[in-house]
Amino acid sequence: MTNIDFGISIGDIKIPNPLVLASVAGLTDSSFAASRSVGLAILGGYNVDTATIEAARSLIKKGRSEFAYEKPKSVIENELAVMKTTDMAAAVNLRSATLEPLLEIAECVRKRNAILELNAHCRQPEMQAVGVGQRMLFDLDKLEQWIREIKQTDVTLSVKVRAGVTEDVVLARAIERAGADAVHIDTMNMGPKLIKKVRDQTSLKIIANNSIVDYESAHKMLSMGADLVSVARAAIAGNAALEEILSGLEHSEKTIGWYNAPKHICAGGDLRGLTFCCMPVKDCPLSYVLKRAGIKTEQYVRTKESFINSKLGRGANTCFGSMVWCCKITRPCPWRDSTLQDDNISDIEYMQLKKELAQKLLSCRELE
Ligand SMILES: Cc1cc2nc3c(=O)[nH]c(=O)nc-3n(C[C@H](O)[C@H](O)[C@H](O)COP(=O)(O)O)c2cc1C
Repeated sequence: MTNIDFGISIGDIKIPNPLVLASVAGLTDSSFAASRSVGLAILGGYNVDTATIEAARSLIKKGRSEFAYEKPKSVIENELAVMKTTDMAAAVNLRSATLEPLLEIAECVRKRNAILELNAHCRQPEMQAVGVGQRMLFDLDKLEQWIREIKQTDVTLSVKVRAGVTEDVVLARAIERAGADAVHIDTMNMGPKLIKKVRDQTSLKIIANNSIVDYESAHKMLSMGADLVSVARAAIAGNAALEEILSGLEHSEKTIGWYNAPKHICAGGDLRGLTFCCMPVKDCPLSYVLKRAGIKTEQYVRTKESFINSKLGRGANTCFGSMVWCCKITRPCPWRDSTLQDDNISDIEYMQLKKELAQKLLSCRELE
């Protein structure tokens, strides 16, 4: 396991790195997870009430692998105990047609310092027929109510959803409003563009999923605002894809200090990219993006200038007299780089200050 501190947590659960093993029913248990290089392993999906256990049994008859146990709670307790002996964080993906078993299991998940993932994602007709999986997305009031009740147990909660089933941004806002800690989005064929939309409208932790097979595909999701990326099919065959992704993530964090740094706004980046924008002096996408985010130009300028007393305030020879207006470290600029060199500021320190500034800029946006 890497010794780089990515500084990631979901709720109060620390996650050693941004790579996640996504649930594959009947396969992703603690022994499978132990052979994979991830920061967070999501075990399951476990069927935890009578209706889902019966649905899983009929799926097994059709040849699908499922976790269908008489006493799912004790299996989950044992599995989480095993995960405690590893250096990965753990979550359990749960399917249930009734709330009570989720509340019971939430207690034991919390005690084991793990994450409960509510499955609002599965699309097997057998599960949907009992109101489970993506079926849950059609009754937002009930979903919000369940989230609120589960959060009463103080467990850290992620909600796994499938994109394109309902209105994705409205869904993410509802999940956040109800108090969940993370949304795990299977983006289907919408990929990074969807992640950007959700990032711009929520402060939830985002786990991006679907078709992540290498560092390049992982990086596309992260640079549009995902906090973590998850892998299912590419992790079934072996550990090679996960190792390649992890080594890219480590390299990025080690060299630029912000593994999920956004793209520039003019290259289509999410709102965090405002941190790399210059003064609003020319006709460029900045004015349109500020308007869309409900941030007044003066507020943008004031927020940038609030960092003038930090090391970003240096750079009298840069285009606008201070590095608060400078671009991403990966874009070549001799004026910025000479300031960094003269003032003995590392690339990592520069990017970490830009990250703090991005957070401050995000807090100015008006959410719909
Ligand atoms: C055989 C199989 C079983 C799956 N079981 C679950 C499950 O129980 N719970 C869940 O949330 N997602 C489940 N998924 C979905 C995956 O976690 C993931 O969202 C999906 O495969 C897309 O990611 P990928 O492109 O990395 O495979 C399953 C996927 C496959 C292929």
